[in-house]
Amino acid sequence: MSKIKNIAVLTSGGDSPGMNAGIRAVVRTGIYHGLNVFGVRRGYNGLVNGEIVSMDAKSVANIIQRGGTILKTARSEEFMTKEGRQQAFDNIQKLGIDALVVIGGDGTFTGASKFIEEFDVPIIGMPGTIDNDLAGTDFTIGYDTAINTVVDAVDKIRDTAESHDRLFVIEVMGRDSGLIALRSGISTGAEAVLIPEIEVDYTAILDRLDKTRKNKASRIIIVAEGDDEGGLVVADKIKERYPNYDVRVSILGHIQRGGKPTCMDRVLASRLGVAAVEGLLEGRRGEMAGLICGQVQFTPFSKAIKHIHEINTNLTRIVEILSL
Ligand code: F6P
Repeated sequence: MSKIKNIAVLTSGGDSPGMNAGIRAVVRTGIYHGLNVFGVRRGYNGLVNGEIVSMDAKSVANIIQRGGTILKTARSEEFMTKEGRQQAFDNIQKLGIDALVVIGGDGTFTGASKFIEEFDVPIIGMPGTIDNDLAGTDFTIGYDTAINTVVDAVDKIRDTAESHDRLFVIEVMGRDSGLIALRSGISTGAEAVLIPEIEVDYTAILDRLDKTRKNKASRIIIVAEGDDEGGLVVADKIKERYPNYDVRVSILGHIQRGGKPTCMDRVLASRLGVAAVEGLLEGRRGEMAGLICGQVQFTPFSKAIKHIHEINTNLTRIVEILSL
């Protein structure tokens, strides 16, 4: 029998669509197993400042379809200090909280690892970030919604690009990762995709743009924000080489973080929420629940963090082949 009676859930780092579905799953799974469940507001800041509230089944009603996070989120500087973590531990002890579920990305799991190391608190993570830049899961919660938002935006921009015979450079999110750029690029028929994981061969890309010009009126280049140059610089390089091209830049920004989660993100968050709580009850800690080839799997935080998915070069090849 597990000794865990009281658990708390928090969301941390950048928000991502599906976090609410994850909170709902954790709260309801906890209640299903007879636990008391608390919600921590504003990520680790809420642990440090004692912003911890009791959650019941009703408190998570009607949120599965909502973007953002009802618990709010933050990137906590206080929790990065030893004193902050001590205060956080004192606060959870006061409420008798035995274990945590944290939903976020690499910063969230780095904080969790420190907390386990210092205070031996059982913690399970759920991957919540639009960037999909964690190992131990094929997809992170929010990624599918984000790429569908990008696809929708690029399709609209394509209408203008086609009507005016323009080339659009579109910058998408992904601080250290080109996975949003790559998938959205393939699915919008982009002429090129520039990502931080692969060194850009400008000569090849610029040559290709000219070669394929006769076949198409509009051209779309997708650039991940984490790429060295960013969309504005890429556009300047194109204009420098082809002054007669009509080039525009569109930076999609935070529109990619919001909105109703897709079915895929809701199901992913629900499955991982159930797995996270049941994992804690089975004695797991210091691991992230993820989905690999359709199966729930647990990966130690140390492996999930910064083990960015290797870029599938088949996908980059597809962009090139299909952009003729
Ligand atoms: O990690 C998610 C993400 O959206 C990145 O793609 C982006 O670089 C970053 O967060 C921006 O974060 P914020 O605007 O919250 O500082």
